[in-house]
Amino acid sequence: MRNRLVVANWKMNGSLEANARWAEAFLALEDAGCDAAVCAPSVYLSQMACLLKGSSVALGAQDVNEFESGAYTGEVSARMLAEIGCSYVIVGHSERRALYGDTDDRVALKAKAALAAGIHPIVCVGETLEEREAGETIAVVSRQLEAVIGKVGAEDFARCTVAYEPVWAIGTGKSATPEIAQEVHAALRAELTKHAAELGDKVRILYGGSVKPGNAASLFAMPDIDGGLIGGAALKAQDFYEICTAH
Ligand code: PGA
Repeated sequence: MRNRLVVANWKMNGSLEANARWAEAFLALEDAGCDAAVCAPSVYLSQMACLLKGSSVALGAQDVNEFESGAYTGEVSARMLAEIGCSYVIVGHSERRALYGDTDDRVALKAKAALAAGIHPIVCVGETLEEREAGETIAVVSRQLEAVIGKVGAEDFARCTVAYEPVWAIGTGKSATPEIAQEVHAALRAELTKHAAELGDKVRILYGGSVKPGNAASLFAMPDIDGGLIGGAALKAQDFYEICTAH
């Protein structure tokens, strides 16, 4: 039995004031009844750690450097994230892959660094529109997934979460249909099962890409969709709550 996990990816949004209002509003609502996490910009992680303290909402970061420490100006290490209270970190988001040169190999190293610090990586995979139209979706997401499993090993991958985020659905308002998403999630789960039956059973596979209160229930009803990674709609506490509780 995999518990639903819903993760807010705030991207480069927020302010001290807006974050405080978000936390106040979200925590005033009844328990969401699922695992929930907020991935905030790194400068706000300590603020969010204070605001979420004592609640059931976990804290996450949006990226991490693959090295332990050293001359990497501007970067943040997994140990630093752990120290500040992060239990999750997103790795391999398509924006990082497309805009900041994160390769499959670097994403795998980031996941490994996170695991070494005791943080659960949320490994993002997803195809572009061109790749989908060329019939390459499953090959692309499998390659992205295998790169990480190959580096961290099947045993440690049990502490990872996968997020399927078709690039064409992110921030476009065009979510994948539940059926399209389910097909890819099932393929990802089969890939996990090839390594170990337990991995297929245990690892949560989230869907991300234009999830809103109005479409969350139908997506989450699919057998291999274990929750969501939410961008735009997670900026409003009420919308995020409605997604968490959608049924
Ligand atoms: P979106 O973003 O919900 O705004 O489409 C999802 C994501 O990029 O994680």
